[in-house]
Amino acid sequence: MLISKRAQKVSPSQTLKITSEIKKMKKDNKPVINFAAGEPDFDTPEKIKEAAYEAIKGGFTKYTPVSGTHELRESISAKFKKSNNLDYSSNQIIVSNGAKQALFNALLVILNPGDEVIIMAPYWLSYTEMVKLADGVPVIIDADKENGFRPKFDDIEKKITSQTKCIILNTPTNPTGMVWSKSELEQLSEIVLKHKILVISDEIYEHLIYEDSHISIGALSKDILSRTITVNGVSKSFSMTGWRIGWMGAPYDIAQEVSKIQGQMTSNPCSISQMAAVAALGMDGEWFDYLRNEFKKRRDFMISKLKKLNISFVKPEGAFYLFMDIDCTGLDSFAFAEKLLSEKLIGVIPGVPFGRDDFVRLSYATSINEIEEGIMRIGAFLSV
Ligand SMILES: Cc1ncc(COP(=O)(O)O)c(C=O)c1O
Repeated sequence: MLISKRAQKVSPSQTLKITSEIKKMKKDNKPVINFAAGEPDFDTPEKIKEAAYEAIKGGFTKYTPVSGTHELRESISAKFKKSNNLDYSSNQIIVSNGAKQALFNALLVILNPGDEVIIMAPYWLSYTEMVKLADGVPVIIDADKENGFRPKFDDIEKKITSQTKCIILNTPTNPTGMVWSKSELEQLSEIVLKHKILVISDEIYEHLIYEDSHISIGALSKDILSRTITVNGVSKSFSMTGWRIGWMGAPYDIAQEVSKIQGQMTSNPCSISQMAAVAALGMDGEWFDYLRNEFKKRRDFMISKLKKLNISFVKPEGAFYLFMDIDCTGLDSFAFAEKLLSEKLIGVIPGVPFGRDDFVRLSYATSINEIEEGIMRIGAFLSV
């Protein structure tokens, strides 16, 4: 067999087929409504693009330090302090090709073969596959839909074994939009400290919270900070998914190991994007207000339309996704998504790769008009 066991144990992206069908339909000028998008539909702000043009014109087009430029790491360190109350000095920060690489780097550095990683369902679909690629074992904790999938701490504790190395936390959560409360973060922190494990906190949607404000678990105490790897990036907050800049703040020893392995794998992320990321981190509150208000308007509109149709869903508190319950249809999530696409030209992401086959994920990173038309078509689909 030419293909390694490691490669074989990773599932192919199950959503690729549906997203490529959506793309093809759009290309063929079919009136498809795309609720499948995983990225903001705004353009990257002009100020950020200007910084990239300047980088190119100024010849900033060569290798940079593996962990990112000093300027960018200083900006990230200041941002961690100012908006998250997290103390990570610049030598504890590694800039990577998106938050995705930061997450994968973290797992590669902390996992030995067979180490277990606790993941709470519904979860972002890459976590399980990344853990497997790093020779770890994903341990899934289910939650109740009746309770909006809020964490069940007794269940988490029960699944901790001598092999448990870390827990992955994602707030706001993809795909439900759930935002962890301070008291929930405190309970998780207690578990992490009691069992002397680590937490990887994926905070990529931190600026998209509609009622409360974001709390970083690492800000709760010095003890928990010493066991936390905080992952973030510019993709979702600045509409920069294509620029591929993400980062982690980590305990010093872990950060040094990450730098070592990144140096042998990909070296630094794109120099031009790093300059753009410095400009992004200099954006003022107006941009975040705009982003939040726009998404809040769309979220509220989608919610009001779904309520009128008596469709069950988890009320999103953050990110730009809504997890819709399809249990009453008797279809599994793939069959539902395929049928909805072929019959009503609506693209949604099946819930099964997120750990729930009785749900689908709708993204409201699209216009109010599209949301109105799309939910109307879903209503017609369900009433047949
Ligand atoms: C929860 C979560 N974490 C990380 C990422 C990856 O971010 P990036 O594009 O910066 O790699 C995504 C992207 O969809 C995500 O939803």
